[in-house]
Amino acid sequence: MKIRIAKQPVDLIRDEIIAAGIFEGSKRLGTAAARINKHTAGMIKDILASGDFTGKLYQTMLLYVKKGLKTNRVLLVGLGKEDEFTPERLRGATASAANRVRDLGLKKFVCPLGFAHVRGLKPGGKARACVEGMLLGLYRFDEFKSKKATEQDRLGTCTILVDENDALNEVRAGVKEGRIIAEATCMVRSMVARPGNSATPTYLAGTARSIARREGLKCSVLDARSAKKMGMGAFLGVARGSDEPARFIVLEYVPVKTKAGKPIVVVGKAITFDSGGISLKPANNMEEMKTDMAGGAAVLGILQACARLKIPRRVVGIVPATENLPSGSALKPGDVITAMSGKTIEIISTDAEGRLILADALTYAHRFKPDAIIDMATLTGACIIALGNDVSGMMGTDERLISCLKAAGEATGDRVWQLPLYEQYGELIKSDIADIKNVGGRPAGTITAGYFLKEFVGEVPWVHIDIAGTAWTKTNKPCAPKGATGAGVRLIIEMLRRWQD
Ligand code: BES
Ligand code: ZN
Ligand code: ZN
Repeated sequence: MKIRIAKQPVDLIRDEIIAAGIFEGSKRLGTAAARINKHTAGMIKDILASGDFTGKLYQTMLLYVKKGLKTNRVLLVGLGKEDEFTPERLRGATASAANRVRDLGLKKFVCPLGFAHVRGLKPGGKARACVEGMLLGLYRFDEFKSKKATEQDRLGTCTILVDENDALNEVRAGVKEGRIIAEATCMVRSMVARPGNSATPTYLAGTARSIARREGLKCSVLDARSAKKMGMGAFLGVARGSDEPARFIVLEYVPVKTKAGKPIVVVGKAITFDSGGISLKPANNMEEMKTDMAGGAAVLGILQACARLKIPRRVVGIVPATENLPSGSALKPGDVITAMSGKTIEIISTDAEGRLILADALTYAHRFKPDAIIDMATLTGACIIALGNDVSGMMGTDERLISCLKAAGEATGDRVWQLPLYEQYGELIKSDIADIKNVGGRPAGTITAGYFLKEFVGEVPWVHIDIAGTAWTKTNKPCAPKGATGAGVRLIIEMLRRWQD
């Protein structure tokens, strides 16, 4: 989709359709709606008075206008209650509007920045939110359909209409940022939705290499032999059961202009299919386990966005990638393996494989002498039970990093909620025969998984984000159609911009 920016009065716009937001139960119209109302002899006020359109959140209504405007379609978009409005709702409202316009088969859509007023958002931030909402909301995954979305059902151009006094350069920057962040998120969605026979560890490594080439990042990929030389016994323990070769991917972004200090390292679990291994999962819904690489995919998207946004700090991405399958050579319950850190791990369930590959990735992260480490993983079903599908779980060792991520989550709508890591949880993963075991039982399943990871982070400030519930949505949401969501991308980008070292 092309995005244009124009400074023009609403009544002179000739494009096919203009959107105007309406707050529920508010007497005062927003700037765009007020202007349209004025040029159409009070049409919007009349409709509101009739009660046919109330401004309920994400409700839309198409109006045909014969006189007063140069366009003949206006799309009213409900914004909900004015005092409950947030940037996330602005994204949702523009997403609903864009979807309605596409469903109408129209090609040119005008979204005025006067669409809605959001407390604390300047024109640049507003433009960014509108662009994010539209691109995230319009996303579809059709790579595996023989009939692709054609030109006919695609929105061609969106014009962001700025107000008289809005600073054009700020709006331009906002549009650019919004596009970069949304495109990275959508790239991640497509990787996550891609089936396991296509999105293999080799495929992820290839994708990382092409991102690196395109964006000027450093990229190195270890195969099983090099991983063995490094002593990655936990990562290789998981990889052993599969014929598909494992890959340990490292991407590095170094800012050009700013002095490159200590990096932030982001680690992402990439199990390209999790069958459970010898501790085989039940057959029902097992196909969903192709998404068990969502953390790793998010890391690749984050690195792409860092380069495009020219984030002023070093960022390293680490993605251990392998399948988890049962076979004659697979890891077995009861086995003991030695992780790269030297710690021995008793395997209770081969289905608790994510923490194993992350253990070695977290150990490897220390080579970069990081300022902080953040890992993202579809780690535990228990996290879905605890927090559902709209909020990711968060645990860590550094309060400043935790509050930075919490704030970034609230600002982006890619939300996180902290769970505790009290030392009592450590008791649950003590093993009788090895240093630790990989399962702590059913109680506090998300926390004991987090505690297991903590054993590999040492003194470096660290946070773990469990995206098991948030990486995939079974229902259509305004900014995320059914399927992969790209969780973690917007969260970490925002955190990287806020973090002060
Ligand atoms: N990949 C799963 C976690 C998961 C479950 C992600 C549902 C997304 C949706 C993970 O590897 C796993 O199987 N975890 C086990 C751990 C248990 C054996 C301690 C779980 O959550 O059941
Ligand atoms: Zn598993
Ligand atoms: Zn898994």
